[in-house]
Amino acid sequence: MKQPTSLRKLYYALPPAWRFLARRLYYLPSDLYDGLSGRRDELTPPKGLIYTGSGDFRAQGEKMLRYFIELGGLRPGHRVLDVGSGMGRIAVPLTRYLDEQGSYEGFDVVESGVRWCNRRISRRFPNFRFQFIGLGNDLYRPGGGNAAAFRFPYADEDFDFAILTSVFTHMLPEEVANYLKEIRRVLKPGGVCFVTFFLWNRESEALSQANPVFNFPFGRGHYRLMDENVQSANVAYEEAYLRAGMIEAAGLSVEQAHYGYWPGRDKEACRDFQDILLLRRPLS
Ligand SMILES: C[S@@+](CC[C@H](N)C(=O)[O-])C[C@H]1O[C@@H](n2cnc3c(N)ncnc32)[C@H](O)[C@@H]1O
Repeated sequence: MKQPTSLRKLYYALPPAWRFLARRLYYLPSDLYDGLSGRRDELTPPKGLIYTGSGDFRAQGEKMLRYFIELGGLRPGHRVLDVGSGMGRIAVPLTRYLDEQGSYEGFDVVESGVRWCNRRISRRFPNFRFQFIGLGNDLYRPGGGNAAAFRFPYADEDFDFAILTSVFTHMLPEEVANYLKEIRRVLKPGGVCFVTFFLWNRESEALSQANPVFNFPFGRGHYRLMDENVQSANVAYEEAYLRAGMIEAAGLSVEQAHYGYWPGRDKEACRDFQDILLLRRPLS
């Protein structure tokens, strides 16, 4: 989420249940209006339920779909994994792109989002499935199981295409390292992973110093935190370490990097707020 620093700090300081409630109440009048006037279609959640970030839910999803196709080579018959499926921002545009040969699996640690997606998306599109997994995350769901030891509930070499938008930006290194290994395991040889990060490199470090609104003041070796108390609030990874020590160590290769405008790069020259990496599981 992009908000002024003090507001963001306050927001993160709230326990997750309160944050969800505050959002629900804040948007209640406009959600009621949109619902009663028929301005919201059935695949768009009420704003008060979208705990996953701000901005235009449908337009952002459509933009991501274009990137999956243009940058990642996604095809209608692919089998897709969406890790951290949230409120279905990625799944909704995929419902009109994947054909009957294609299929989608999403999982997330927030049960309310998974419930909404099953009710609104899976009922209409049975080749789309969502699972709740009770793992912990100090921003979204404190006190659950350990993501650093979690085995994805899918067979080896099951997927053509894996997606993680704004998920590793909320996970700590041991968790990310485990997920990268799991992604390699469940991707077919030659399969692609589209993933976003906040990449800490010389340029983003220099730009960040002049950016009081969105920065990572707390260094922790190869990664940096935005908030000391809620560690998963936003996490940036030192790019060189991430590439060699985590991505390549997991048996994946980086094929493309598209840097985002989060540290203060020219917005028009960037594809997205976050940095995008395209990873591939090598053929052998
Ligand atoms: C900023 S939201 C992004 C959601 C979605 N990917 C999107 O782009 O709209 C981050 C999501 O990651 C989920 N998440 C956090 N930790 C996770 C974990 N260990 N495994 C799977 N999902 C996780 C959160 O519950 C939340 O839905």
